[in-house]
Amino acid sequence: MLADQLGIDPSPSLEALYRDILDHRPHLVGEPQRPPPARIVVRGLPPTVDTFVGRRAEVDAVCGWLGGSATSPVVALHGPGGAGKSALAVRIAHQLADRYPGGTLYVDLQGADADLPPLRPIDVLGRFLRALGVPGGAVPSDVGEATVAYRSEIAGRGVLVVLDNARDAAQVRALLPADGSCGVVVTSRRMLATLPNGRHLAVGLLSPTEAVELLAGECGADRVAAEPDAAERLVELCGMLPLAIRIVGARLASRPGWPVARLVERLADPGLRLSELEFDDLSVRPSIALTYAALSDGGARGQLCARAFRLIGGTRLPTVTARAVAALLGEPPALAESVLERLADERLVEPREPGVYGIHDLVRLYAVERAEESEDLPSRCEALLSRAAVHLGLADHAAARDADEAGTVAVRIGDRYLRAVARQAQGRIARAAGDRSAASVLKAEARELLGSVPGYREPQYADYFGRL
Ligand SMILES: Nc1ncnc2c1ncn2[C@@H]1O[C@H](COP(=O)(O)OP(=O)(O)OP(=O)(O)O)[C@@H](O)[C@H]1O
Ligand SMILES: [Mg+2]
Repeated sequence: MLADQLGIDPSPSLEALYRDILDHRPHLVGEPQRPPPARIVVRGLPPTVDTFVGRRAEVDAVCGWLGGSATSPVVALHGPGGAGKSALAVRIAHQLADRYPGGTLYVDLQGADADLPPLRPIDVLGRFLRALGVPGGAVPSDVGEATVAYRSEIAGRGVLVVLDNARDAAQVRALLPADGSCGVVVTSRRMLATLPNGRHLAVGLLSPTEAVELLAGECGADRVAAEPDAAERLVELCGMLPLAIRIVGARLASRPGWPVARLVERLADPGLRLSELEFDDLSVRPSIALTYAALSDGGARGQLCARAFRLIGGTRLPTVTARAVAALLGEPPALAESVLERLADERLVEPREPGVYGIHDLVRLYAVERAEESEDLPSRCEALLSRAAVHLGLADHAAARDADEAGTVAVRIGDRYLRAVARQAQGRIARAAGDRSAASVLKAEARELLGSVPGYREPQYADYFGRL
């Protein structure tokens, strides 16, 4: 056409283009050309917390493990909600930025989010592949294919992958690179014991000094220095939990005229404490509620665990034993132990020594709230009596440890708690006056329980139990 109308021949490059068009060459019809992968450096990390305190040993351990010889090292941080796993992971990733020439891929997997569902691996793979420079249209929709594409794309690039707030191991497995140049940091409330090449690190509570340091960072060192006792008491009421301390710190920062002692007073009432631990989008209650809700939705076994959790809260004890929980549930100790193990996996209780479990103060307050909300009066009476049973169980436990003191310890502890329980039970009966069934359940169980106490018919107990 050019030769016919203008008398000139097409240039060699125009001829080549003409041939490409006829051949439907892909770079003309499809996606834009991809830049060479090595040129893209992903920088997806959120900012680090500028008031970050402590965790030096944890940072050193993780940095050491990631620099170790494993083919594709995976470090998994686990711990209770609000303990600071995400803050620590982000801190570590910033610190290691120079070691990873390909940059950092970060995703919040939403496994610890009260409002959003956990992300599906296929959605995360899509995000990661696009961030690595793969055009949207070329991202496979099948999770297996997408995993292969992701592993091929990331191989040799030296990328640190941060998988934050994972719900479980299944959510992260497809997101692990298989290449020695890359490293992975995962955070999850659960210990993801089945991850390949995984090293696990527990993220616990802050020390009292770190806790006060965090408070000072949030609300001002001068205010903390002016009221050191109140500051110490405040972080204690927060159970040394970073999330709770950040909240009270932010509340104080927003009220420059408040003395620290004012917030101490407000938090001192256990019935109000969880409501006081809310500020803006930070709140302790939903963080615990998320785990509890997953448990109570989890079929008959989950319901049993949720009930055990409420009853444990009702004991007001900082630690419980499997025997005690067996008494609370009216189930065999072996079942009680497996219920406690499940609660421990969900971070609602923490294993201390074999058969003994601790419960964080704030978690216990949440359990008490749920118990009061969901148990009807007969069940609450039952729980009250079970509490006595737990204490008697503890007496047995103490007795078994020291045979010489067996009798004395059992009677002393049993006596003290039975007095208290009898007083409370009488109060309940008075309140249940209009509810005959509640009162009769209580009385029958009280008799049965008391029948199991050695010597309860002795005259010195008549005062306490005669009226039952
Ligand atoms: N070492 C720390 N120094 C300062 N602030 C911290 C520290 N650890 C945690 N925080 C703050 O405490 C709050 C809770 O921390 P984070 O979100 O990391 O907890 P988490 O363990 O990841 O909880 P979840 O299980 O709910 O995901 C955040 O606001 C965080 O910035
Ligand atoms: Mg987190």
